[in-house]
Amino acid sequence: MFITFEGIENCGKSTQSKLLYEWLLDNGYSVILTREPGGTPSAEEIRNFLLKKRNETFPPFSEVCMYIAARGFHVKNLIKPELSKGNIVICDRFSDSTIAYQGYGRGLPISLIKEMDEQAREGIKPDITFLIDIPVEESLKRSKEKEKDRIESESTEFHEKVRKGFLAIAKENPERVKVINGTKPIKEVFNEILATITEKLQCL
Ligand code: TMP
Repeated sequence: MFITFEGIENCGKSTQSKLLYEWLLDNGYSVILTREPGGTPSAEEIRNFLLKKRNETFPPFSEVCMYIAARGFHVKNLIKPELSKGNIVICDRFSDSTIAYQGYGRGLPISLIKEMDEQAREGIKPDITFLIDIPVEESLKRSKEKEKDRIESESTEFHEKVRKGFLAIAKENPERVKVINGTKPIKEVFNEILATITEKLQCL
């Protein structure tokens, strides 16, 4: 089973993916927790490049090429081998982030992103995606204390477009994407995730 978590900055998806990882381990499942961009040494190198603030304009097409390149390393060297061993893979962000950020956020053609992404995914796609949805104002409130990376430093308008993108993806893929209200307490959000996952595990 391939499970992904998506959402705008500070939505709580990393906390929730970790909670799910620990719950699955405690219940005897073979599971790995990974993230995008990153997850393998080469993809983590690309991550550092992507998130570092720069004094140069980062063209949107260069940006999408790098996110897709990182995904290629990750799928080939980690996600695909783990899934073929029968292990559960939880990934903090995947293809939906590229459509939301580089498509809706940066304005690159969605059809181009989908074509590039298809090459990097090598046929794998999430069985279930949790979209942890919070308003952009809530995201900004939660980020106040932290030092922001290159993408987090983007305008409120950019993050509004990204959120809109995620919600559009969810609407187009209701059988795969479960939208969860991320403003609720951590425990309540997790119980909702768990209800979906236990139902899925029973169907296996
Ligand atoms: P993270 O903060 O969730 O670790 O993700 C890193 C950043 O990269 C986050 O700002 C979202 C962004 N991102 C994209 O813009 N496109 C992508 O395809 C992915 C996977 C992440």
